[in-house]
Amino acid sequence: MSSALMSNYGNPELEFERGQGCYLYTPEGERYLDFTMGIAVNCLGHCHPHLVAALQEQSTRIWHSSNLFRIPQTERLAKRLVELTFADKVFFSNSGTEAVEAGFKIMRRYHYSRGDKERVRIIALTQSFHGRTLAPIAASANPAHMEGFLPGDTGFDQVPFGDIHALRAAITDKTAGVILEPIQGEGGIRLTPFEYLLQVRELCDEMGILLMFDEVQSGVGRSGYLYAYQASGITPDLLASAKGLGGGFPIGACLATERVAAPMVAGTHGSTFGGNPLATAVGNAVLDVITADGFLRSAMENAAYLRTGLNRLITTYPEVLAEVTGMGYMIGLKCVSSNADLIKTLQKKRLLAVKAGGNSIRLLPPLNLTRDEIDEALAILESACAEIKSTPAS
Ligand SMILES: Cc1ncc(COP(=O)(O)O)c(C=O)c1O
Repeated sequence: MSSALMSNYGNPELEFERGQGCYLYTPEGERYLDFTMGIAVNCLGHCHPHLVAALQEQSTRIWHSSNLFRIPQTERLAKRLVELTFADKVFFSNSGTEAVEAGFKIMRRYHYSRGDKERVRIIALTQSFHGRTLAPIAASANPAHMEGFLPGDTGFDQVPFGDIHALRAAITDKTAGVILEPIQGEGGIRLTPFEYLLQVRELCDEMGILLMFDEVQSGVGRSGYLYAYQASGITPDLLASAKGLGGGFPIGACLATERVAAPMVAGTHGSTFGGNPLATAVGNAVLDVITADGFLRSAMENAAYLRTGLNRLITTYPEVLAEVTGMGYMIGLKCVSSNADLIKTLQKKRLLAVKAGGNSIRLLPPLNLTRDEIDEALAILESACAEIKSTPAS
């Protein structure tokens, strides 16, 4: 079908008219089990009643006033994030890439304000993904994302994932900081080992540079913790959040300590829509549910149940599946056969999953999935594995 949209998303054909909980419905009424959740965004499923109520209520009061004025629910969301994390200050954006970009600016401004004006370079890890605006693609340095966009030196350096010696060697008197994902997402749902996180933290402290965690995908309960870093006890100086924070409404946030955020005085950064009343009304509603007593505990019991089922499938279909990776409901399934084939077969059987690097697929269900829904997903996965196993490779 021809489209007036640019072709950068490949012009997908499948279309949905409505969503409810973990299901999406086509205009013809066909039901799909959605384990993409808008790429780890709808953390409470589609049209969660508490989120719908918050959005409807806010939509009758005020949609937008801008940061020229105080916005009470935006203040409240920032205060709650501060109380729940390492951070003292929050900047709101509209997306993950902008939250990361804000973090890069804050890193540079921190050193600038201390008279260290040459400290502008930022180090990232291989196979990372930090977004699609210019600085984040320069950080991740995926050639496919950079081609035709970034000629010459970008101000970013990359070191191999998990290699502390390479990181030490890459730090110079021009380095401002390091960015990493505690759980790599697009790269293939890979846990960054706690030991490495600790080594990076200690190295950054020793060298006087800053550490930023990108939790755009792993944040807001998906790991079983509000933010995945909380499992390790190792805190960053800055953290980028987005996706799940709005449960489907666009919002991003850059969290920082007081010391690091202090140079961000009036006029240093901004966003017309950042911290918009609709977005932060929904953000507060998301936190109401995620932080309710026992919510994440019971979500993670169900995630463990799903993982046990997936491990059973690996034993039964070793010619199709190799490994379950990740943490909580940030699940990677490393494939033996092609990940694209598995995604296609699952879609035919009405289970939606997302591709990731390292020949993996991502299962990113809502955090409030029921056991029956998990059983339904496992049955579809089993049937897809059986079909792939019985199909001769072309
Ligand atoms: C770890 C990580 N950082 C940043 C981004 C960019 O977020 P957005 O697409 O909202 O700009 C993503 C998106 O997938 C991500 O997974």
